[in-house]
Amino acid sequence: MIIEIATLFPEMFKGPFTESIIKRAVESQYVEFKFHNPRDFSTDKHKKVDDYPFGGEAGMVMTPQPLADMINHLTSKEAFDAIIFMTPDGARLDQRMVNSFSHFNRILILNGHYKGIDQRIRDKYVTHEVSIGDYVISGGELATAVFCDALVRIIPGVLGDSSSALTDSFQDGLLAPPVYTRPASFRGMSVPEVLRSGNFGEIDQWKLEKALEKTKIRRPDLLNPSKK
Ligand code: ADE
Repeated sequence: MIIEIATLFPEMFKGPFTESIIKRAVESQYVEFKFHNPRDFSTDKHKKVDDYPFGGEAGMVMTPQPLADMINHLTSKEAFDAIIFMTPDGARLDQRMVNSFSHFNRILILNGHYKGIDQRIRDKYVTHEVSIGDYVISGGELATAVFCDALVRIIPGVLGDSSSALTDSFQDGLLAPPVYTRPASFRGMSVPEVLRSGNFGEIDQWKLEKALEKTKIRRPDLLNPSKK
């Protein structure tokens, strides 16, 4: 999968993309990231990329010209399966949405900063608008890092244990059951006997019960999606 990211702040991706699972996924060529800076496409003599909003609101808006020229340049070279804009007023990201994006080969993610981007860019170029939750952060970059992490970890082969992503919370519509590791007894607290029984039928049954129990208490909306 090739993920192209348009950002005024490419340095913000250092760290999230250079450690742990994403780092290994890049090294093993499961995913390639390419960065583009809209500022490089600005025709303004000071390379300005933002301006005051019409209508007198506070804050600045990213101007259409650098973004439009950048997108036209990129789409003239490659076909993108999706052009995604990260925004708090987008569709709220969930595991099902992540799974559906994972089928794409090449995507472009636009990151707004300041008050957002000019609506005409959204109308003309953007195919999907995605929010990582009902709160506002200072720009799209951290949201994009979250989105990419969720995406990359489910690419087949990226996680060492290929079943691991399938047992994540939400993959089966339930929260994940508790997990334990060695030692079996730790400061007076012991691991549930069933997990050490070697009986995989019983272990699966126990996990399902615990997952259901937790989901019922913490996220009943997942059990009754229509009531969300
Ligand atoms: N940009 C600012 N807040 C955001 C959010 N919650 N999701 C996606 N992009 C954002």
